[in-house]
Amino acid sequence: MKGLHKDGVVILDFGSQYTQLIARRVREQNVYSEILPPETSLNKILNREPAAMILSGGPSSVYEKNAPEFDPEILETSLPTLGICYGLHLLAQQQGGAVESTGQGEYGFAEISADDSTGLLEGISSPSRVWMSHGDRVSQMPDGWHTLAHSSNGVVAAMSNKDQTRVATQFHPEVAHTEEGETILRNFLFKIANCAPTWTVGKFIQEQVEMIRKQVGDGKVLVGVSGGVDSTVVAALLHKAIGDRSTAVLIDHGLLRKDEAKTCVETLKNGLGVFIHCYDESELFLSKLDGVVDPEKKRKIIGNQFIYSFDRIASELGDMQFLAQGTLYPDVIESGVSKGKTAHVIKSHHNVGGLPEDMQFELVEPLRELFKDEVRNVGRELGLPKALIERHPFPGPGLAVRIIGDITRERINILQEADHVYMDILHEDGLYNDIWQAFAVLIPVQTVGVMGDQRTYENLLGLRAVTSTDGMTADWYRMPPETLTKISNRIVNSVRGINRVVYDITSKPPGTIEWE
Ligand code: XMP
Repeated sequence: MKGLHKDGVVILDFGSQYTQLIARRVREQNVYSEILPPETSLNKILNREPAAMILSGGPSSVYEKNAPEFDPEILETSLPTLGICYGLHLLAQQQGGAVESTGQGEYGFAEISADDSTGLLEGISSPSRVWMSHGDRVSQMPDGWHTLAHSSNGVVAAMSNKDQTRVATQFHPEVAHTEEGETILRNFLFKIANCAPTWTVGKFIQEQVEMIRKQVGDGKVLVGVSGGVDSTVVAALLHKAIGDRSTAVLIDHGLLRKDEAKTCVETLKNGLGVFIHCYDESELFLSKLDGVVDPEKKRKIIGNQFIYSFDRIASELGDMQFLAQGTLYPDVIESGVSKGKTAHVIKSHHNVGGLPEDMQFELVEPLRELFKDEVRNVGRELGLPKALIERHPFPGPGLAVRIIGDITRERINILQEADHVYMDILHEDGLYNDIWQAFAVLIPVQTVGVMGDQRTYENLLGLRAVTSTDGMTADWYRMPPETLTKISNRIVNSVRGINRVVYDITSKPPGTIEWE
């Protein structure tokens, strides 16, 4: 890693719920950022040749016995440093100041007034609205430090050492609610730390192509693709790096969206010249799912069959030494790799149920430093079609978890058609990109309707649309009534087998996004 992202920012994660957000905000300024565990030694940090360091917030108090461990030398370095919340407390305490509990804490919006508008707070209005989330405060400023801003209830809101090489905020500049947070971060990155805005998509692609060539040598790479944006970008990158020595494999379990397998193959093969095999394994999957209604059983059956199929296909293709997959940075962070554990976890949901542990592949994961929106930018730069790049996420078990009850070919067809109409209208009405994920669900209930003079007795269809940032929590999308009317009319009139449509208004929690 040494020097690869020279001049980036190292973020030490003291456990804040916002650490990933800090990393994203830094990258939005075209500066590379990397999250490391709190105990990372100064030596290790300096080896990466960063331009600056950020100490994140965290749930602990610096005066507690179980506060996270860290290398005290990190607070003595001349590396420009920004402490946020817990990071501020750490700097204050370690430099000889004092930190105490505020009693009931301060959570939510606050107003701060500047005491020194140079450096970190240059160009910031006073007062300015910020987002606070803390239970401790600085009760004694360290020697040689001064207050840059205070909040309306007298708490030190920002502080710095004499020459502003070390600065800190009690509030969270990375959170959108801090109205001038972007300017504050920019001041830190470009005025204080002199970072260069060189982290660009073009540079990332160039770097990855070189790294893939170096890792793979003369070897051959199998790329598992699913039709989604991450794996398609991986396939395109691999193709760019090593051409025909990479082979993409799409396993069609028969539960993809309408024309999904065809579109994926066409995009990769005709659009980008990628060598791809599509395996129609639908007979196998659907026969195993016959008569199964329990959601967890469905997931297990699909996960296991995926492993058998993949295993068989990999051995059919022979002499592949590498497996490329679309692991993203949030998966890396969640799997604990960035927290100092070395276990190499294969992203399980990406491949439905995970791959067999005894598979003798070395992994190639060119996206493991990226967030989803950055992957989309890479896709754009590589020339992937817009429709694919902007596509909503799709679960590994596919339509199996959107057909409640029995799964049959007939029910799959009905759902594929209805979902297709639904997506068409969201595009027509310009709503698709406002929604994080939208899909139709086939409900095993028949209701009475009337069409023309005929009585109908057909299936019920649920529509789901949610806004979210990461799928962990979600809110139901306030769909305009005229769009709902259009969707309902068109589906009932054009999809045989559906005569009634309902809209799901459950948020997550307490609901989940998928119905099964
Ligand atoms: P839930 O239903 O848990 O879904 O609120 C959150 C997000 O995860 C997706 N999802 C999956 N993705 N394999 C996947 O690759 C799965 O088994 C799976 N289950 C749910 C879901 O579509 C939503 O985006």
